[in-house]
Amino acid sequence: MKIKTSKIAIVGCGLVGSSTAFSLVTQGICDEILMIDINEERALGEVLDLRDTIKYLDRNVKVRVAGYKDCSDADIIVITAGAPPQKGQTRLDTLEVSAKIVKTIVDPIMASGFDGIFIVVSNPVDIMAHYVYQLSGLPKNQVIGTGSALDTSRLQNFIAELVNVDPRSIYAYSMGEHGDSQMVPWSTVTVAGKPFQDIIHDNKDMLGDVDLDEIVKKTVREGWEIYQRKGTTYYGIATTCAGIIKAILYDENRIIPVSTLLEGEYGQNGVYAGVPTILNRTGAADILEIHMTEEELERFRSSAEIIREYTDKVLK
Ligand code: LAC
Repeated sequence: MKIKTSKIAIVGCGLVGSSTAFSLVTQGICDEILMIDINEERALGEVLDLRDTIKYLDRNVKVRVAGYKDCSDADIIVITAGAPPQKGQTRLDTLEVSAKIVKTIVDPIMASGFDGIFIVVSNPVDIMAHYVYQLSGLPKNQVIGTGSALDTSRLQNFIAELVNVDPRSIYAYSMGEHGDSQMVPWSTVTVAGKPFQDIIHDNKDMLGDVDLDEIVKKTVREGWEIYQRKGTTYYGIATTCAGIIKAILYDENRIIPVSTLLEGEYGQNGVYAGVPTILNRTGAADILEIHMTEEELERFRSSAEIIREYTDKVLK
């Protein structure tokens, strides 16, 4: 007998893919990482650089260059390859090019016999996750998009700054599209159990008038704030992705707002959107339906509507 090792494949060794690998290696999350890129030399460069970290880490994570046929027994495949938005473009504008790239990746992976979990990072992520779900034919729990998990991290940072507590003590979700139409169900936001709306009400002296819409706008803008200054974003999304991988591999049942297929939840059907989801070894095990006000549900509906409109352009 042989104990099975945990194997993660990363497709796309650009800044997002290689930072995801770096986050996995430095946290020692898995046993083995396969780095896959059409530019094999680039993949090798990343592998060699990552290997140099092992001596000074707590454990050895084996990293190597691989191809699609090596994916058959991978536990998780992360797809980061795509067409990053250029100046003035939204994530949605990259739809067609990204879809073409994603298809050239998923077809050979499925031909290898892969039956693990896809985590889709490529933008526009909700639509790309849905496309991978369709192309792969895998059950929906096995195809996850990083969705609004990163926006949620940004949102929690802004709330944390305002009330001066650790972001990890904030319970708040950004939901819907990983893009301009995302929404926050403010009625459900708590700081360690205390409703945020009560905190605003009880601390008027300290907090003044809190503009919730402005916090949502800041959350939406944050990717662009980073983009404008450094041309791209990667640490945030890479570490978010590593957190999702950890929740799955370690069977954590951790709740993270990833993009998953809605089948009646929040009144939506047949659309991939960011919603709080229980993650464990089966992938997206279950969707948490938090109670929203009518107005919040309406905002969620319009975000899902935008995703649906663009999804229809790709799905045949
Ligand atoms: C961002 C990219 C990952 O929001 O869409 O940083």
